[in-house]
Amino acid sequence: MNARITLENTEELLQKHGQGHLLAFWGQLDAGQKQCLLSQIRSLDLPKIDQWVANYVKKAAPVEISHDFTAAESYRPHPIGAEQQSKYAKAVELGKELISAGKVGAFVVAGGQGTRLGFDGPKGNFPISPVKNRTFFQIFADSIAAVSQKYQTVCPWYIMTSRLNHGETVEILRSNGYYGLDEKSVFVFQQGTLPNFGPDGRILLADKANIARSPDGHGGSLKALHQSGALEDMKKRGVEYLSYFQVDNALINIFDPLFVGLHVLDNAEMSSKAVVKTGPQEKVGNFCLVDGKVTVIEYSDLPDELAEKRRSDGSLAFQLGSIAIHIISRSFVEKLNSKGFALPLHKAVKKIPHVDEQGNTVESDRIKLESFVFDALPLASNSMILQTLRNEEFAPTKNATGVDSVETTRQMMVARAADWLEWAGAAVPRKPDGSDCLLEIAPSFALEKEDLKEKLGDVPQIKPGDSIYLA
Ligand code: UTP
Repeated sequence: MNARITLENTEELLQKHGQGHLLAFWGQLDAGQKQCLLSQIRSLDLPKIDQWVANYVKKAAPVEISHDFTAAESYRPHPIGAEQQSKYAKAVELGKELISAGKVGAFVVAGGQGTRLGFDGPKGNFPISPVKNRTFFQIFADSIAAVSQKYQTVCPWYIMTSRLNHGETVEILRSNGYYGLDEKSVFVFQQGTLPNFGPDGRILLADKANIARSPDGHGGSLKALHQSGALEDMKKRGVEYLSYFQVDNALINIFDPLFVGLHVLDNAEMSSKAVVKTGPQEKVGNFCLVDGKVTVIEYSDLPDELAEKRRSDGSLAFQLGSIAIHIISRSFVEKLNSKGFALPLHKAVKKIPHVDEQGNTVESDRIKLESFVFDALPLASNSMILQTLRNEEFAPTKNATGVDSVETTRQMMVARAADWLEWAGAAVPRKPDGSDCLLEIAPSFALEKEDLKEKLGDVPQIKPGDSIYLA
């Protein structure tokens, strides 16, 4: 039986771990606040926190690059040779079968803070599309509805939020009628949190009675899927694969039969899409093989001589950039959770509100720890990588302007629509630096360019300066 929790023994425990300051304002708290703070403190795994402080808070996580370290192999966007051609065809067929059978669910991680974008509210509610200002959530819901319609099935949608935006996200979905999807097929759940730290390793207080905490990173999704009951829900529905994507990628192709099919044909547990990097120092993670396991090494951790290394054909030796698109087998997440697992933590310095020693609320650079979902790749028995084309599938909206911004995303959405229409045979007015019109194709109109062929009759003549929404 647990020993009774008292102020005295809690104080003693905290002192032992250098966290005695958490009770600094005890005398100013009412009975309810005291109870609440005690239970927060008792839920901390202090020995584990000591390790985090030593390994991650007080120093940058050491980069251990093993001797057996090479670039990862991948499938090209298009097959090379007859054998691969037949494998791709088989994969597409299999992928379509699995999607039709309802075995693939959409999984968006939407628990981030989106501080760089500076938008008030969940990032998924940001109006991103170039003509109709449709939000990320609307675009994803439209795709899910269109795929469900195309394959005559129900594709469930799993949405991970965090304590910072859960209530608002649920309210946005509810007040928009789940964008026409069946509410019962939309599963919204919260990720976990981790305490915030000062540079000296002391846990921060958000106010006198509460520990300061931040979402535990997108890697937290692998535990949250289990803890929230989402895995159980998948099992009940017969969903075996999750199509994982980020909330700020409006170009995502959520249900890609080729990607799903190759994942299954290769017996992979977790697969990834990659793009060829724009240059040696592009700020994306690098797909590598470490001790034979697919591993993403962050751009800042890849030694310059490896980042710059070229093959005899001039291409970068480490050319595959990670774009946070994965297929994850349910059985893999179940396996991880049943045997217990811990992803490494990464330290980020952010502006974090907290109380100082005098009890004043201040906001300054402090430390949050998070885990990254790609750190689960080496835990998979098999892992497959499929290259894709950046202009087709990857438009990260991180900032309001400049690089990876609202601006560049809208340009990419218009550019992809123009490319698809021209490919299908429509005339698109052009300027030297792109199309001379605004274009938006709703997923209900075309999920992929092939869908446009039979819809050309519904495409109006596009004149310079036009703003056209095809739905
Ligand atoms: P980012 O790394 O872009 O972080 O997240 P962010 O918090 O959204 O944005 P900044 O850095 O504050 O500007 C990439 C994806 O991972 C999700 C985000 O919602 C986004 O889809 N994410 C990130 C989570 O779901 N939980 C987290 O704890 C962190």
